[in-house]
Amino acid sequence: RIYKRQMMCRRDIDILNVPFLAIYESLIPPEEEKLRQKQLVALLEKLVSKEWPTAKLYLYGSCANSFGVSKSDIDVCLAIEEADMDKSKIIMKLADILQSDNLQNVQALTRARVPIVKLMDPVTGISCDICINNLLAVVNTKLLRDYAHVDVRLRQLAFIIKHWAKSRGVNETYHGTLSSYAYVLMCIHYLQQRRPAILPCLQEMEATYSVTVDDIGCAYFDQVEKLSDFGRHNKEAIAQLVWGFFYYWAYCHDYANAVISVRTGSIISKREKDWTRRIGNDRHLICIEDPFETSHDLGRVVDKHSIKVLREEFERAADIMQYDPNPCIKLFEPY
Ligand code: GTP
Ligand code: MG
Repeated sequence: RIYKRQMMCRRDIDILNVPFLAIYESLIPPEEEKLRQKQLVALLEKLVSKEWPTAKLYLYGSCANSFGVSKSDIDVCLAIEEADMDKSKIIMKLADILQSDNLQNVQALTRARVPIVKLMDPVTGISCDICINNLLAVVNTKLLRDYAHVDVRLRQLAFIIKHWAKSRGVNETYHGTLSSYAYVLMCIHYLQQRRPAILPCLQEMEATYSVTVDDIGCAYFDQVEKLSDFGRHNKEAIAQLVWGFFYYWAYCHDYANAVISVRTGSIISKREKDWTRRIGNDRHLICIEDPFETSHDLGRVVDKHSIKVLREEFERAADIMQYDPNPCIKLFEPY
């Protein structure tokens, strides 16, 4: 199944940059939306500090990693030093505090895998999930944002891929497909392994940023303004990269043995990670190593059925990019 198809040249590929860039531009959130998000966070900070004066709020996920499209919900992390109190108690208390203000639909989800408070702000219309002390997510959010600053093609590619995944219904972890976070890591990996490379491997470079979170050392080169011409030898534009991305996941990736690793900027083997068999619910049918929590496979949610769905979607997209005279329409067709 792998390597079965030749990537043929498509002479009109450069014409396709125009419609892809137009889609990308249309997905960028307007400044005014960013402003309203900040307003909501300021309100939350005020409410939280009354109860916990030393607590801090951090934005993470797509509202802070620069891969957020217009009208996304926001993800907030409450950092709090209440070692003696368990997370669900903090969640209940937080929900109480927020309920008493003008916020709507405040719900405490204490039994979720990651316990959160959900709410909606009627003033800004923004929905928001608040989790407790999930600082690794805050750090991986910074890593993704820093990668986005190295080369604008990452943001373009990730917006297109996320938009495709949402349109095609393959961005739903509860149905066994991949999270947005996983798709962005797949894009980073893809641009790292292009030749010439479009992205470096920041974690293999001299560390200028270093923190320890939950006993995990997170260190990498974060002075990305110094890398702004890193990808200059590679002239590929968005249409070529979208095509190559789908082609890679349809026909080149070795699903049986390979793990993609942004941390090392390369492929590592499933055997090396002991991800060769199913353990509990983790099946490792497509393996995407988390850059910091290296025992964590973002592909673990994918099962026997959904791996088939995913691979068929990659093949469909690659074939559309290869043969369709107007790929931008068919690619994003609702499933
Ligand atoms: P959208 O909400 O779809 O725009 O994307 P997002 O970037 O907010 O991604 P998502 O909701 O999938 O994840 C939010 C954040 O949680 C990510 O950016 C990561 O920082 C963090 N995260 C860490 N581990 C995981 C994981 O296993 N799954 C998911 N989904 N997120 C994780
Ligand atoms: Mg999100």
